[in-house]
Amino acid sequence: MDFTADDSVALYDEMYRWDGAANATDRFYDQLVMAVDSVLDVGCGTGMMLHQARAHGHTGRLVGLDPDAASLRRARRRTDIEWIEGGASEASRWHGEFDLVTMASNAFQCLVTDEELRASLAALHGALRPGGRFAFETRNPAARAWESWNPSVVHTIAGNGWDLRQWHEVRSVTGDLVTFSETTATPDGTVLSVDSTTLRFLDQARLDAFLTEAGFTVERREGDWEGGPVTDSSRSLVTVARA
Ligand SMILES: C[S@@+](CC[C@H](N)C(=O)[O-])C[C@H]1O[C@@H](n2cnc3c(N)ncnc32)[C@H](O)[C@@H]1O
Repeated sequence: MDFTADDSVALYDEMYRWDGAANATDRFYDQLVMAVDSVLDVGCGTGMMLHQARAHGHTGRLVGLDPDAASLRRARRRTDIEWIEGGASEASRWHGEFDLVTMASNAFQCLVTDEELRASLAALHGALRPGGRFAFETRNPAARAWESWNPSVVHTIAGNGWDLRQWHEVRSVTGDLVTFSETTATPDGTVLSVDSTTLRFLDQARLDAFLTEAGFTVERREGDWEGGPVTDSSRSLVTVARA
């Protein structure tokens, strides 16, 4: 069986369907997006969040930015949204144009080096109008989420013609960088793809230092999607920062 990059992103959509009615995390972003005229979604992936915003009647400017070509091919199924291929630092092409920048589903953790974080945050700050907001979440390192990724969580995926197994294995934890692999296989164990990803787990102090350096002021910081405070067991650092 051929398993292409296009199959992989279609599978992602099936596994992590965007649903603001069912999921508090999706609702958090939906409420912010629907309240403003212009939104830049960075690390937009397959574009599910912006697709939903349009479907739910957003009439303003919606722009998705992502470095992954296969994800953007899928995003482009909707042509009434602008789709740009590039990493977060390439938001430097826009100047004071957006009310809101989002990085949903922990896309922020893909910014792994100090240099990439600095360049990206400066670009996102510059893309926002003065007073515009940057909303994102990053997993709280204190909750050590990677420890539950290994040994693997195995998913059985059925529907849309798929019957596949997918699991994650942590390969290394070095400082605040966690590298893991995602393996997709058929039920008989034939491996179709193995992808490796490194994510950075910034704690609050380091995160806020990067935000402050880029000119942001933290307006909201929550430990969950219901507005609870950050504790050591909070899974996420949910942040709304103002430019
Ligand atoms: C977990 S996915 C989230 C996708 C989408 N935001 C969602 O909610 O479904 C993380 C995304 O970040 C993108 N990404 C990786 N490196 C990036 C970078 N340097 N700048 C922006 N996005 C990046 C990946 O291509 C991927 O689409």
